[in-house]
Amino acid sequence: MKIKNTTPTVLVFDSGIGGLSVYDAIYKKMPNLHYIYAFDNEMFPYGDKSSEFLIDRVTSIIGHISKHYLIDIAVIACNTASTICLPSLRSQFSFPIVGVVPAIKPACQITQNKCIGLLATKATIERAYTTNLIQEFATDCTVKLLGLSELAFIAENKLQGVTVDINQLQTLLAPWLSEPVIPDTIVLGCTHYPFIKEELQIIFPNATFIDSGNAIATRVYNLLNEQFDLNAENKSAKENIVMSTNYNQYVEKLTDKLTKYKLNKYQYINIYRV
Ligand code: DGL
Repeated sequence: MKIKNTTPTVLVFDSGIGGLSVYDAIYKKMPNLHYIYAFDNEMFPYGDKSSEFLIDRVTSIIGHISKHYLIDIAVIACNTASTICLPSLRSQFSFPIVGVVPAIKPACQITQNKCIGLLATKATIERAYTTNLIQEFATDCTVKLLGLSELAFIAENKLQGVTVDINQLQTLLAPWLSEPVIPDTIVLGCTHYPFIKEELQIIFPNATFIDSGNAIATRVYNLLNEQFDLNAENKSAKENIVMSTNYNQYVEKLTDKLTKYKLNKYQYINIYRV
């Protein structure tokens, strides 16, 4: 028995466009919901920010948006933020908060050579959360870690139409390429990386890449399905919204591209104004 007879509003948040890889998986599973995609481009990249800064910043943004919109579920579509902010967010907001963390467990289940790689931001690689995930789920595997700040920028640029420089990628990934055993399964531990999966596959032609998009979509479905009729039409027919903390030329160009994600309306988030 579903309790609520309304269309749920799903907030998906990231520092940049990376969270769109998660949004896309959720949207494909549940196209009838009302979506807000919010990104903190004023402070991008999150990978070089301190934990204290991120907890404060992400809490302020989610708090600001939830003052203006009734949020039914929030997805922190950013590994860098999720690996540090979830306990604090969950203690402050009453709606469910789903985080994205590196898919170490599924990677360990499919690796053949027992060597997995984790590609993520430097911050995610250094987090205790990540160390604990590896200790808990990867006991019988070798886990190679590579924290890179450049990859998220490369993905952002690709979405703006800039061709990815394969030689640059090759240089960045060189630490793994020169090792005797190369990971056969690579965890994309940053939501930006699915956007450059094709190019990463050129560098590691035999590897399987794993991201968390579909697992998060299933989690969101299960949580919402307890309360809402997810097959119903979007009764309120509200427009899906994209929001950012900075409006610039980059965002102006981006908003056209976002119509393919059915994010049709743009709104500036001014977290400094109540
Ligand atoms: N998309 C974010 C993640 O999943 C990171 C990008 C950034 O450094 O802001 O970790």
